[in-house]
Amino acid sequence: MADFKDIVSRRRFLEGSFALGSGAFIAATIGPAGPAKATSFFSGFNGISFNPVPANSKDTITLPKGFSWHKVAAWGDPLWSGVDDFDQTTRGTGESQEGSFGDNNDGMSLFDVEGKSILAINNEYCNRNIIYGNRASGLPETSDDVRKGIAAHGVSIFEIEKKLGKWKIKKDSLYNRKITADTKVEIDGPAAGFYLMKTDEDLTGKVAKGTFNNCGNGRTPWGTYLACEENFHGYFSSPSNPSASIPPEQSRYGLKTQDKGYNWVMNQDRFDLVKNPNEVNRHGYITEIDPSKPQSMPRKHTAMGRLKHENCEVSISKNGQVVAYMGDDERGEHLYKFVSNGKYKKGASSNYDLLSEGELFVAVFNDNGTGKWINLKESGMSEPEIAIFTRLAATKVGATTMDRPEWVAVNPKKVEAYCALTNNKNRGVKDNQPINAVNPRENNPYGQIVRWTPSNSDHASEDFKWDLFVMAGNPETAEGLYKGSENITKDNMFNSPDGIAFDSKGNLWIQTDGKYSNSGKFAGMGNNQMLCANPRTGEISRFLVGPKECEITGITWSSDRKTMFVGVQHPGEKNPDSCHFPDGGNSVPRSTVVAITRNDGRTIG
Ligand code: FEO
Ligand code: CA
Ligand code: CA
Repeated sequence: MADFKDIVSRRRFLEGSFALGSGAFIAATIGPAGPAKATSFFSGFNGISFNPVPANSKDTITLPKGFSWHKVAAWGDPLWSGVDDFDQTTRGTGESQEGSFGDNNDGMSLFDVEGKSILAINNEYCNRNIIYGNRASGLPETSDDVRKGIAAHGVSIFEIEKKLGKWKIKKDSLYNRKITADTKVEIDGPAAGFYLMKTDEDLTGKVAKGTFNNCGNGRTPWGTYLACEENFHGYFSSPSNPSASIPPEQSRYGLKTQDKGYNWVMNQDRFDLVKNPNEVNRHGYITEIDPSKPQSMPRKHTAMGRLKHENCEVSISKNGQVVAYMGDDERGEHLYKFVSNGKYKKGASSNYDLLSEGELFVAVFNDNGTGKWINLKESGMSEPEIAIFTRLAATKVGATTMDRPEWVAVNPKKVEAYCALTNNKNRGVKDNQPINAVNPRENNPYGQIVRWTPSNSDHASEDFKWDLFVMAGNPETAEGLYKGSENITKDNMFNSPDGIAFDSKGNLWIQTDGKYSNSGKFAGMGNNQMLCANPRTGEISRFLVGPKECEITGITWSSDRKTMFVGVQHPGEKNPDSCHFPDGGNSVPRSTVVAITRNDGRTIG
């Protein structure tokens, strides 16, 4: 049992914390000092103020007065001249998609390369009912349909330029590039060359084909982009033996004999789990890409673990080691930290190898507000096994099962980090996911953001203190803990925090991927949205509401900080006929990157 007095003296308890479940104690704490009341005029931590936007269910982007948005790139927009423009009827072909921006844009970073603005963006997945909306089945029916689907995934890299005040794709830039499931990728780290990584196509076990289902992202201080492979399991199946049994170390990753409807196995045997059992071991990693060198080969870093990666938030420890925080987004999975063996040196070519060797840790959150990073070596598994079956190693060392760890964000103004725990219907339901202080609500529909402060003000430390920065909830219709923490009000409520990132001034931006019914438990929340939080006071205000049925995900800034780029993913995902974002009229809904600027031309984060 936690020492409550200790916590209370350090942080305030949330009202009603003890009321949940039969005898369950909840040591949920809310960190921000002082009451955070809803205000009609928000002042951020630094450099931004706006009138919060009311929740709504409109089919457009809503911003505060004084801010504007425009489309930069949408699914199917050509990256090279000579490629057909997006076709509203056919929704493109394999060939046109190979020359165009992919679908479902997610994490992204803008790089300044010799004064040019280069965007690197994950194209996480496809909405089959939209990309194959020209087929009666809503699924890929031909080999070219599969080719189109493969080309709609991966990472798109392209130059953008501002013309007449609007950012646009610069077609034919030497930096424009698409990295898909067919691109050659070097494998490094402890699993490279291990027998479980060898396939018929690659007897060395050191060169994989492609990266796909990249969700959140990361960027390094040496100018590279990190694409994070998430739900890689959904592309594999076993048509050669539909009743094959899946071994437990693979079913832990969700592998099944049936895929999610992408049918990539129609074109490539390697996606058949029975014919090529090791292919799947080559996916689920962090892939590093140098956007300044279009000919460079991306690298998968097995030292950073195989999981359903969300993002990869990189910081530098006191002595120069790279510390990368990584969530594993699945109910009851874990939060990880990679610490490099080598040290970062500004301008050194050795920086490019920093993510190839290091130690991998997993988090334990104690109910008394302390926590510890456990080295996965303590699992007793070999280094290649830890790299490939990371989840199994985490279970062996007693890691805390979490409410779906999504993005991690490190505060640039203070040594502390945040992780969005999006929601978890299994909390308090499945035996391995009991209610505890950091995951305090049974069948958690709303999510929370946990914050930790490493000891010695060093992200490489193995101990930390934590609190809950916010528990999302509904103060109007829900009871007890489900009302949310004190910094949630009827004016800023939301559910399912997912993307989180700090701007250069120290404001925390929160993006949501939740329920948009705007009814019942979710009444008053409207569409998915983006909010701005002051980490010092805990104040949270709604800055943006997205169009129908979208998720807001991905955020980056122009070099002059006068433009904020934000991702609108899968608008109209369930009812495509009801959504026409971004083109309006009767158009097909398309995932889109938008640029947001201030009408007075000043900086925005
Ligand atoms: Fe791709 Fe966890 O969201
Ligand atoms: Ca996400
Ligand atoms: Ca999510």
